[in-house]
Formats: sequence, C-alpha cells, structure tokens
Amino acid sequence: MAKKVTVVGAGNVGSNTARRIAEKDLADEVVMIDIVEGLPQGLALDINQSAPVEGFSAHVTGTNDYADTAGSDVCVVTAGLPRQPGMSRMDLLDKNAAIVGGVTKELAANSPDTVIIVVSNPLDEMTFLASLVSGFPKERVMGMAGVLDSSRLRYFIAEKLDVAPHEVEAMTLGSHGDQMVALPRHATVNGKPLPELVDEAELKELFQRTRDGGAEIVGYLKKGSAFYAPSTSVATMVASIMSDSDDIHPTCAWTTGQYGVSDVYLGVPAKLGKGGVTEIVELDLNDDEIAKLKEAAEAIRTKCADIAAKN
Ligand code: NAI
Ligand code: 2OP
Repeated sequence: MAKKVTVVGAGNVGSNTARRIAEKDLADEVVMIDIVEGLPQGLALDINQSAPVEGFSAHVTGTNDYADTAGSDVCVVTAGLPRQPGMSRMDLLDKNAAIVGGVTKELAANSPDTVIIVVSNPLDEMTFLASLVSGFPKERVMGMAGVLDSSRLRYFIAEKLDVAPHEVEAMTLGSHGDQMVALPRHATVNGKPLPELVDEAELKELFQRTRDGGAEIVGYLKKGSAFYAPSTSVATMVASIMSDSDDIHPTCAWTTGQYGVSDVYLGVPAKLGKGGVTEIVELDLNDDEIAKLKEAAEAIRTKCADIAAKN
C-alpha cells in the first residue's frame, strides 16, 4: 500500500517538514494542508519541481481539503501561530489550542489509524490536547521538542569544544521550555563524558543557551521562529515511524510510571515505530535528575488540567 504522510500547516515549519520528508522519500505521498488557499498548492508544486534535481520520487499534494489527507500513516501538526519577540511559548496557548483542537478533529475523522506528531506550541500542552480530542490510544499521539532541544545542545557543545557536531551525544528531557532537563552525565564527546571537558559554569551556560535556543532565534528573526532544525527533527521521527525502526528519540510521550511519573505527557527517551511510541526507555538517572523531571511533569500536568476543563 502507498505510504502517506500529512503535514498540517504550510508555514515555515510545515513546508520545510514536507520538503524534508519528500527529499528523504519517507512516503509515496506527502499531503500538505493549510487554511490559506493557494499556499500549500504553490509550495507543493515548488517542492515537486525540485524532484528531478534532488532525485526523490515522493509526490507532494497541496490542499485545503481534509478529504485529501485520508488514510495517512503519520500526521504532523504544525498549524498555529509562532512566537514573536518577547512572547513565551505559553502566550500562544489559547489561540493555538483552538487551531490544534480543530485540526486534530479533522485528522482523526479522516485517518482513524494514524500516528500524530504535534509540533505547535506550547508543545507539551498541545500534544495533550491532540490526544484528548483524537481519543486515540496515547502511544499514537506524541510531540516533537526533545530532538530539537538535544540537537541544539549538541551543536552548542560542538561549537564550544571545536569538534564536529556528530561527535557529540547529548539528550534533553522534561518540557519544551524553562523546565527542560539537561543530562550532563549522559552527554559525551567522542565517548568522553562532557563534565570532564568543561567546568560547572560552562555546563550551566550551555544548558541555559539550549533552554533559550528558540528565543535566541526569535530575537534575530524578529518575525516568527526557527524552522530548519525543527523540520529536520520532525522528519527524523517520521523516518523511524515509517520504517518501524524502534530508534530512540527524546519524545513528548505519555508516561505510565517511568521515572516515577504517570498519566502526563513529558519529554522522555522513547522508541518510535509503526504504532507510534513502542516503548519509553528508562535511563539511569540520579535523584536530582529524577526530581527535575518530576517538577517538569507537574508543571505540564497543571496546564493540561486547565486544557481538559475547557475541552
Ligand atoms: P508559520 O506562521 O510560518 O506557519 C503556521 C501555518 O499554520 C500558517 O501557514 C497558517 O496559515 C497555518 N494555520 C493556521 N491555522 C490553521 C488551521 N486551522 N489549519 C491549517 N493550517 C493553519 O509558523 P511556523 O514557524 O511554521 O510554526 C508553527 C508552529 O510550530 C508554531 O506554533 C511554533 O511555535 C511551533 N514550533 C514548535 C517547535 C517545537 O520544537 N515543538 C519548533 C518550531 C516551531
Ligand atoms: C523553538 O524552540 C519556537 O519552540 C520553538 O524554536
């Protein structure tokens, strides 16, 4: 059967995500849908015209009609407002909740067996909302943030130590925001633990810059937020699901007791495969790391209780 991925939102993140999925031939058909008429159609045609040069065979369909999304294996939700300078991700909550709620209803009706990856902010809360509105099993709804935050951290470490980014391994967990949990003991450069290579103050600086990584880019762009690193982060998650690889990605996933946390969406390492989240992986965390993860979980839980009351 033909493989199909839908990307909702033909803005900066959505169009780049559709392009990356097509370029990597992760699906036979990539559907890009937006409320703005002409926008997804024009961008889809532009991406398709790059196929002969890039050498991919996936076809991108631009549309404003959810009927075209029917039977998608994976749906990525990027619809919504991005941050402007001075705005926190949380400032987007009410407006994006209305958008993400409406979009999710349509996706669930047209692709009842799909896996949903939420990108719209505030990420952890929008992922919960998509799960609530879709009524899907929790493993079929997840959010993208940890891959991006971890990639940013790896880049900053590489820049600091003047090594190639791929020589750095690091993972962030927790929330996409101030309660991001960095794991210094698990970060390595060519296999060497990061804390042996930088001092405490430098570690703090690296983590803080990662936490503020989105805002730093918003500050430069003035209008809108990051999209190159976010779109490649989504595409790698889509790749794992479409190929049923069970590769591990830091993912906003529904917890069921891992790290002492239950019944809340939280950034945790997760295996991704055909059914969505196939397993949450439990790293060897110390008491302090677990306490920070629990703090992040409780902050997300409080916000999600507000969302549940309104939906
Ligand atoms: P953008 O403004 O470039 O694109 C958003 C698109 O959504 C627009 O084309 C708009 O027409 C469309 N849209 C709005 N309402 C819609 C609806 N009801 N149905 C279909 N499409 C609709 O914004 P950008 O930069 O693409 O960001 C999208 C979202 O992703 C924002 O909320 C942003 O904060 C978030 N984001 C999240 C990241 C993460 O790590 N989770 C990283 C980067 C962005
Ligand atoms: C980012 O981290 C805005 O959440 C988005 O770039």
